[in-house]
Amino acid sequence: MDNFPPFDFITVSTEETIECGKRLAAHLEKGDVVSLHGPIGAGKTYFTKGIAAGLGVKDEVTSPTYTIIHEYAGEKPVYHIDAYRLQGDDDFAALGGEEFFYGDGVAVIEWGERIPDSIPPDAIVVEIKILEAGKRRIICTSA
Ligand SMILES: Nc1ncnc2c1ncn2[C@@H]1O[C@H](COP(=O)(O)OP(=O)(O)OP(=O)(O)O)[C@@H](O)[C@H]1O
Ligand SMILES: [Mg+2]
Repeated sequence: MDNFPPFDFITVSTEETIECGKRLAAHLEKGDVVSLHGPIGAGKTYFTKGIAAGLGVKDEVTSPTYTIIHEYAGEKPVYHIDAYRLQGDDDFAALGGEEFFYGDGVAVIEWGERIPDSIPPDAIVVEIKILEAGKRRIICTSA
């Protein structure tokens, strides 16, 4: 990632959450890993839709909860991973998941907190908190 300052935004709609993902995407470079943290329904998939759109993906981005990984073609490949159904790091390693981290693409992982040892130390961490009435707080930190 280029020198993008960490951010802390409040969004009030899915559209704004998508917009927030797009803003981050403008700073992503090949090999970057984005770990998305937050409860069920926080907006991790909507945020990923924004990242993908910002990276030029035209296909619709849908949740990879059951398939674990979806790959999209954009200006760079986008690997969208959902760790929710994984048992943990060993499970992720058994799937060969880490191969998606060091290629030409950008990897976005929902529930990255479930595979803490697999997430590279320089990953970009995005935490989404559910606030009242359709609001979300989106906090991005990078190493
Ligand atoms: N500000 C907001 N940003 C994003 N989603 C919102 C917002 N307000 C309400 N929502 C709703 O919250 C839900 C977010 O869904 P999404 O699938 O992105 O969550 P998720 O974090 O990926 O969940 P899961 O852990 O099940 O994968 C949607 O139903 C959406 O309509
Ligand atoms: Mg999701």
